[in-house]
Amino acid sequence: MTDTTVAIREAYLTDAAGMARVHVQSWRSTYPGLIPAPFLVGLSEPAAAQRWAAIAEARAPGQGAFVAVDCAGLVSAPGTIVGIASYGARRVAVRDHGGEFHALYVLDDAKGMGIGRRLMAAMADRFLAADIRSAVVWCLRDNPSRWFYERLGGIRVAERPIRFAGTDLVEIAYGWRDLTPLARLSAGPEVR
Ligand SMILES: CC(C)(COP(=O)(O)OP(=O)(O)OC[C@H]1O[C@@H](n2cnc3c(N)ncnc32)[C@H](O)[C@@H]1OP(=O)(O)O)[C@@H](O)C(=O)NCCC(=O)NCCS
Repeated sequence: MTDTTVAIREAYLTDAAGMARVHVQSWRSTYPGLIPAPFLVGLSEPAAAQRWAAIAEARAPGQGAFVAVDCAGLVSAPGTIVGIASYGARRVAVRDHGGEFHALYVLDDAKGMGIGRRLMAAMADRFLAADIRSAVVWCLRDNPSRWFYERLGGIRVAERPIRFAGTDLVEIAYGWRDLTPLARLSAGPEVR
């Protein structure tokens, strides 16, 4: 079900603290057992807020960030940011794919309401507006959230070993060679 009382809109500088809260909570809920606990314990909301402020400020054609705002107070106080997403230049070359979805996080209580899908659609829409017609997302192979990308039509296009926080991990890239169907999933008027 898509709930229209959750608004998807572009991120502003003033959203940075709320975005950092979602980022840190989501990492701590998603990555235990995958990423070493000391790294997760050491995550800092102020440091994350600085990074999200920089991302929000650096908005340009083909790069930026979105927030999902719980306007009606469905799972939190009205106006709370419950989902975040960012997109931009490809960080690793993957043939035939132009852009990259950099981050996508939805708070646990807000999962399963169509927010992740709407954030992906909003980013795909922005890529197309910048004439970037294809994109990838990199996801840890052992993160069960990767099935979400398959559900949205992503095709497994690459795999690579990485070393992160002192641990050896494997990342998978899901690709969309044509972002048009993804952008059409639920790009409502609030993301235009
Ligand atoms: C992945 C994530 C963003 C999905 O957000 P969400 O708002 O819960 O997803 P949606 O409600 O939009 O789901 C869209 C569809 O994907 C399906 N889906 C969502 N998560 C899924 C999962 N883990 N496995 C399989 N299907 C999934 C939903 O059932 C829904 O299917 P439908 O088309 O039948 O309705 C969210 O689970 C999350 O934040 N995960 C933790 C952070 C993370 O790992 N991010 C990715 C880092 S690469």
